[in-house]
Amino acid sequence: MCGIVGYIGRKDAVPFLIDGLKALEYRGYDSAGIYVTGSGAVKRAGKVAVLASSLPDTFSGNAGIAHTRWATHGPPTERNAHPHTDASQSVWIVHNGIIENHAELRDMLIQEGIPFSSDTDTEVLSQLIGTYHTRGDLLEDAVEKALKKIRGTYGLAVMSNREPSKIVIARLGSPLMFGVGTDEYYIASDATPLLSRTRNVIYLEDGELAILTKEGYVVRDMSRQPIEKTIETLEWSTEAAQKHSFEHFMLKEIMEIPEVIQDTLRGRVATKDGDAVLGGLRDVAKRFKDVRRIIITGCGSAYYAGFVGKHLIEEFAGIPVEIEIASELRYRPFTADPKHTVLLAVSQSGETADTLEAIRLAKKQGMLTLGIVNVVGSTIARETDAGIYNHAGPEIGVASTKAFVSQLVVLILVALFLGRMRTLSTAEGKKLAKALLKLPEQVRTILAGRKAIEKIARKYSNVENVLYIGRKYQCPVAYEGALKLKEISYIHAEGYGAGEMKHGPLALIDESFPTVALAPRDSLYEKMCSNIEEIRARGGKVIAVTTDGNNAIRRIADDVIFVPKTHEALLPILTTIPLQLFAYYVARERGLPIDKPRNLAKSVTVE
Ligand code: M6R
Repeated sequence: MCGIVGYIGRKDAVPFLIDGLKALEYRGYDSAGIYVTGSGAVKRAGKVAVLASSLPDTFSGNAGIAHTRWATHGPPTERNAHPHTDASQSVWIVHNGIIENHAELRDMLIQEGIPFSSDTDTEVLSQLIGTYHTRGDLLEDAVEKALKKIRGTYGLAVMSNREPSKIVIARLGSPLMFGVGTDEYYIASDATPLLSRTRNVIYLEDGELAILTKEGYVVRDMSRQPIEKTIETLEWSTEAAQKHSFEHFMLKEIMEIPEVIQDTLRGRVATKDGDAVLGGLRDVAKRFKDVRRIIITGCGSAYYAGFVGKHLIEEFAGIPVEIEIASELRYRPFTADPKHTVLLAVSQSGETADTLEAIRLAKKQGMLTLGIVNVVGSTIARETDAGIYNHAGPEIGVASTKAFVSQLVVLILVALFLGRMRTLSTAEGKKLAKALLKLPEQVRTILAGRKAIEKIARKYSNVENVLYIGRKYQCPVAYEGALKLKEISYIHAEGYGAGEMKHGPLALIDESFPTVALAPRDSLYEKMCSNIEEIRARGGKVIAVTTDGNNAIRRIADDVIFVPKTHEALLPILTTIPLQLFAYYVARERGLPIDKPRNLAKSVTVE
């Protein structure tokens, strides 16, 4: 992995390829490369800007492919950067995904006398394609034959200097699409690079291969049967994917949260009935009547949002909810009673490999699968039986912020929807609905006070460890707060259920190990105060996040961040925002690349 772009048409391909790579930078990468027909290939370790400045003035052509690589097999060097070629340098490919049987294929090809020039799994594919192609197969047939030999996942674009006016693309488990212009096509592994060029897009499905020339395109399956594709419309604006005057996308995306909540709620709250209107679930609503168990899954922040969702659904709808990270769920039998079980998958990108596999497994067993997804048209959105879009707009920063909040909002709506189908009273429903609509304004108040959070962040920016604790709804918020800090500031941080302190973590506490305590005035507030006292008694510093007016907490906390009062079930939305800002300001103080933290990619399309 990480990002693919391609162009074929009447114009020079280079401007789109470089712009496209820049638009994909947010996904994280460590090297980049480009191949253009007639000009050849250039690859560089490091930034796209380095690649762009290395291109000779004459570097141009009407077709080309380019890639940003996030190293999986072999270090991030020029020799391992894509595009990769074959021994005769006829074929050039860019590839996302993983070839699982690369070692055995490599051995086989080496025995046939084929020399390798990189450490990557991808080169196995370029060598295989090259072998078939130089023996006389058309490029598309050579690609197809090679793909039949490999095990693993791919989104790939292939060119050949024997057939220079053609690009062949194929997909299995790694997203790929192409924008349709007039006599030109733009290839990309996610929609962001396409936004500035076209709104018309065709998504490739798993097992599909497309042949693109400037005159047109053909999509076929692996048995060479043609497939009719529908041109879909991209909804996101170019504006939304730009940083404007903000120093980082992460801050911009946090500042967008009030509008994101409004967009997520739009048309979905029936205040008079105290209910949620979820059009995406309409067709499957009948099946909810018999649901006896819900399994929520996801990875990283999406999983933590699901954890809050577990509390919400159990409390408001009385349905038992299991929560499990997708990378574990996909490898365990969760077959019991599939007819009465719903799998609810949460994913911003809609492309996370583990989440997708868990969905496929659940579907195979006959479960109803639902998705809470931000990226319209993504694989998870298309493969689940039904779902709800976040409408959070493009999230560029690797750290999930606005999408996480939007996931929480959707999960509250789902809990309200399921609750009202069961035992939740109209009066309780109305209370929740009313509180939901106040959230955007309340978030604005928190954001307006961000200077105070920045000051606290500066004070703690040199620590080596931070503990985050919370109870019930605030427990997953603690997990999420710790994840946010560790991924962008590289400070070791752990989230814990506060009740666990005496079972181990308390041993860590001393003056150098601060704790962020999520202590809004909720049903477990008193218990949180006891946990804070225990930490203070061991010399630990405490940053408390509490609700407005609770000045008494100053007696037991070193620093206090206030959030507005709301319904207890909605508090995670408000308490999470100071934690995002805290992590942001700590990382900024440490001078780190906040939007693209080291070793991380925005969407994890391989296992
Ligand atoms: O696109 P997804 O929501 O499926 O991504 C899941 C995780 O990879 C993601 O939330 C990750 O943990 C973020 N970097 C957290 O900020």
